Amino acid sequence: MAELIGGYKRTKLCGEFRNFDIDSKVVCMGFVAKYRNLGNLIFIDVRDRSGIVQVSFDDSTPSEIFEKATKLRNEYVVCVSGVVRSRGSNINKNLPTGDIEIIATDLKILNEAEVTPFVISDDAKVGDVTRLKYRYLDLRRPSLQNILMTRSKITKITRDYLDYKGFLDIETPFLGKSTPEGARDYLVPSRIHPGEFYALPQSPQLFKQLLMIAGFDRYYQIARCFRDEDLRANRQPEFSQIDLEMSYVEKDQDVMEIAEGLICEIFNQCLGMDLKVGTFRKIPYAEAMENYGSDKPDTRFDLKIKDLSNLVKNCDFSVFANCIKEGGSVRGINAKGLATLTRKQIDALGEFVKGYGVKGLAWAALKPEGITSSFAKFMTEEQMSEIYNAMDAKQGDLLLIIADKTKLVLDTLGGLRCHVADTYNLYDKSQYDFLWVTDFPLLEYDEEEKRYVAVHHPFTSVKAEDIPLLDTDPGKARANAYDFVINGQEAGGGSIRIHNVKMQEKMFAMLGMSEEDIKNRFGFFVDAFKYGAPPHGGLAFGLDRLVMLVTGTDNIKDVIAFPKVQNASCLMSEAPSPVDDIQLKELFLEINKPQD
Ligand code: AMO
Ligand code: AMP
Repeated sequence: MAELIGGYKRTKLCGEFRNFDIDSKVVCMGFVAKYRNLGNLIFIDVRDRSGIVQVSFDDSTPSEIFEKATKLRNEYVVCVSGVVRSRGSNINKNLPTGDIEIIATDLKILNEAEVTPFVISDDAKVGDVTRLKYRYLDLRRPSLQNILMTRSKITKITRDYLDYKGFLDIETPFLGKSTPEGARDYLVPSRIHPGEFYALPQSPQLFKQLLMIAGFDRYYQIARCFRDEDLRANRQPEFSQIDLEMSYVEKDQDVMEIAEGLICEIFNQCLGMDLKVGTFRKIPYAEAMENYGSDKPDTRFDLKIKDLSNLVKNCDFSVFANCIKEGGSVRGINAKGLATLTRKQIDALGEFVKGYGVKGLAWAALKPEGITSSFAKFMTEEQMSEIYNAMDAKQGDLLLIIADKTKLVLDTLGGLRCHVADTYNLYDKSQYDFLWVTDFPLLEYDEEEKRYVAVHHPFTSVKAEDIPLLDTDPGKARANAYDFVINGQEAGGGSIRIHNVKMQEKMFAMLGMSEEDIKNRFGFFVDAFKYGAPPHGGLAFGLDRLVMLVTGTDNIKDVIAFPKVQNASCLMSEAPSPVDDIQLKELFLEINKPQD
């Protein structure tokens, strides 16, 4: 018999064997996922990325092969040749291959394995640190294999769709120019230019606009982006965008249509949904903030924010009345049906909101036996009933009210509504909620820097009707910018760009940049606009976030093969790490370590 592997080819992947393979001679390869030796019978499960198949060694197995099988252990790499048999009455209903098993006629141990630091199983309770140190073993788990296979499917769907729509896949540099604005850059020292640095791209924004000026019409790229910012559950220092840009578009709608088409393809193909272009809700930014206290509202649950300021401005509760006097506002949400919460549970909500910096949480529980409330004693009956009316309060409801500066109140209630809905399961977590947030403000005043900063980025155009506001009340001007929000997460964002050189210069000036600054940072970019720039716009989806949403995980590390942890290090490779003095010398660098 020819040596296995040398002489054999894999018939199919482990998880693909079925009833119709019965009596066929087959070859499978994979890791030993389970090993049971019953003396005269040995069972192993062989696992590859498609699933597992059971292999049996019995009295029909040649004795030297049976002997070899006794040496197998978990995670050994094997090649098995054999014949597929029905399992008869011993069917394993939990396995797609559970009807059959392979009776081994030949076995080759392709590699041995030491005992792994943890069992390769989705059920094993293993800490994150150990998992990530041995990420290549962690990745053998079926759940992570499935996620990365879905990720691959999503990028394939993306490429097919955008190619079909006439977008060209064009790469842009990793080694670029630092253009401070947005997050902090990752810098790369230059050996050839002592004391000078490249910056890794936070996004290919400038390059994709230059590709429009270069006449490519439609561009896309699955682009790696680098941002040195604090990590969160949906943020990594290096992440991927589905980045696109298109020429001869003037309205938000032109880009949104393409973006919606892509979302439909991804969710329909991956999850069997029936999404249709043109059916996604659009919520103007101002409305999103007013009703949901967030520019990425989760509307799977209602819990809308109501403004009570007018109703309570003259009440005797000093917290409310003083707050209004000082220019703040009093707003609240109606947690429908939650009057049954205990005092301890309500106090926990009070602690939650304090995390946002507000001083307290006023509440009223409308129980069948009467109303309990932290503030009703300061109010007249009439004032309370006005509040109930405004908040559509019915028996069984819990009203949660905050008084403070308006921005803080909205932000806090925005967080509180999600927290309450999550904690008390007020919605169906398997449902998807897709929407656009539109009409973002163009600029935002930065109190620390005492200047306006771009809400999106400095290349975003202003709504035509708001252009006069740039000279009178810039903070009020709205941008042609839009974010795509799924389940309360910002899945993507983009804008129609400025394509007029005068307007671009005006924008930079509004952001407080001197002519010198503009020339140093963006000179090449501004120059390009002098030679004919088609009207253009685009958007970028966060690929990692889309994969999270499609696969239903709430941790971005699950969708990235080799992710970083909270402190931006890789526990497996131990990056970042010190480098040799010689390397530093070549780069003309000296390290000034912080004193402990
Ligand atoms: P923006 O900065 O909004 O836009 O980024 C686009 C999308 O990228 C995702 N994203 C992230 N995902 C994981 N980790 C991060 N640290 C991270 N930061 C952003 C989000 C976000 O919606 N150049 C513009 C796009 C454009 O105007 O065309 C841009 O980068 O899902
Ligand atoms: P006190 O008079 O201190 O007992 O406060 C009465 C209620 O008002 C308590 O439930 C406090 O948590 C609440 N409270 C205090 N400050 C605020 C605030 N800024 N917004 C809403 N409620 C508040």
